[in-house]
Amino acid sequence: MVTVTGPLHTPHHAIDIIRTKCDGSELSEAQIDWIIAAYTANEIADEQMAALAMAVLFRGLSRQELDCWTRAMINSGERLDFSGLSRPTVDKHSTGGVGDKITLPLVPLVAACGAAVPQLSGRGLGHTGGTLDKLESIPGWRASLSNEEMMRQLEEVGAVICSPGPGLVPADRKLYALRDVTGTVESIPLIASSIMSKKIAEGASALVLDVKVGSGAFMKTLESARELAQIMVDLGRAEKVTTVALLTEMSVPLGRTAGNALEVAEAVEVLAGGGPSDVVELTVALAREMIAAVGRDDHDPVDLLASGAAMDVWRSMIKAQGGDPDADLPVARETDVITAERDGILQSLDARAVGEAAWRLGAGRTRKEHAVQPGAGVVLHAKPGLQVRGGQPLITLHTDTPEQFGRAHEALATAYEIGDSAPEEQPLILGRVT
Ligand code: URA
Repeated sequence: MVTVTGPLHTPHHAIDIIRTKCDGSELSEAQIDWIIAAYTANEIADEQMAALAMAVLFRGLSRQELDCWTRAMINSGERLDFSGLSRPTVDKHSTGGVGDKITLPLVPLVAACGAAVPQLSGRGLGHTGGTLDKLESIPGWRASLSNEEMMRQLEEVGAVICSPGPGLVPADRKLYALRDVTGTVESIPLIASSIMSKKIAEGASALVLDVKVGSGAFMKTLESARELAQIMVDLGRAEKVTTVALLTEMSVPLGRTAGNALEVAEAVEVLAGGGPSDVVELTVALAREMIAAVGRDDHDPVDLLASGAAMDVWRSMIKAQGGDPDADLPVARETDVITAERDGILQSLDARAVGEAAWRLGAGRTRKEHAVQPGAGVVLHAKPGLQVRGGQPLITLHTDTPEQFGRAHEALATAYEIGDSAPEEQPLILGRVT
């Protein structure tokens, strides 16, 4: 048992806190402040924090506990301050999905509308890709910036996508890694406090959340996604950050690609005024929410995509971080094609299975320290509702490690279905939470 004199100079015992939560009683603010600070300072054993996370998974956190928990997480590190910038700041967070490359066109688009977007992103683990992994497929581009470099780029370009510094919510870095290996990721209060502590500490004055729903997302049902979204919106408000959430469809992958360089190429198509209609629709919808939240909605994002203004910001943003926006993107050494077995209409295309196939081909990692293959992934030639002919390519697999083709085929074996009637159309945007 570990006893530490905590931040409020109150001695607490980890085991009492675990028991209190297991019994379903409420933790005090002092207990929460103490345990988060002590865990961050390595004064609480991982197994004790894991037991508490499991108790929270089963018992939940009250509104009051969740506010205290999130604030204690924010206070474990630094809070960035962008109040000196000449533009209003707004950020976006997606709960993660397959083929979700929206951040790439969205950040420069919103900057082209006159806001500043400080987007601190992560690397992927498992079947959803990380934004930094995608951008690192651009030759020369670097993810790590000092706070001063970030501030300068925000003032000059208006758009930054980079990795968070070590001072930002260190409590979450430890706790998220622990949850990942103890089966305690899927707790709505722990997900909400993890995401919102980082987003609030990042210091933007407004935040738009893209909460994904479906097989390729954390939240499998609209009901659970709405619950998570409402909790996060309320947490943002409590910290005076204007926060809005969209609930968006993630049963089918977004766009036509899943994989790092493949997704960058698709994002550049959108910035050039083309690209798949679902990627464009979601990019524009999120951009509208972001600019409305900071009073820059005198611009129409559709016009700024068409005029090339968003592309100009993209090029400046990539160059400012050492990247060459004109360089050829990496291409995988081997490809393999899955074809339609008969004529018909594609009924479904399971996001989770496509994400898993891309991951097995080398686009994602199984452990934090693994490298990803920049060219690996999946290209989708048809989406649900489309007429296909027997023998026509449906999916192309890309990898440098062709021995993985078999595992990718296994992942995709039941991922799609060809039928005779048109499937019911699913809207992309399923709800809005304020
Ligand atoms: N993303 C996060 O940052 N934290 C979680 O707990 C889940 C997803």
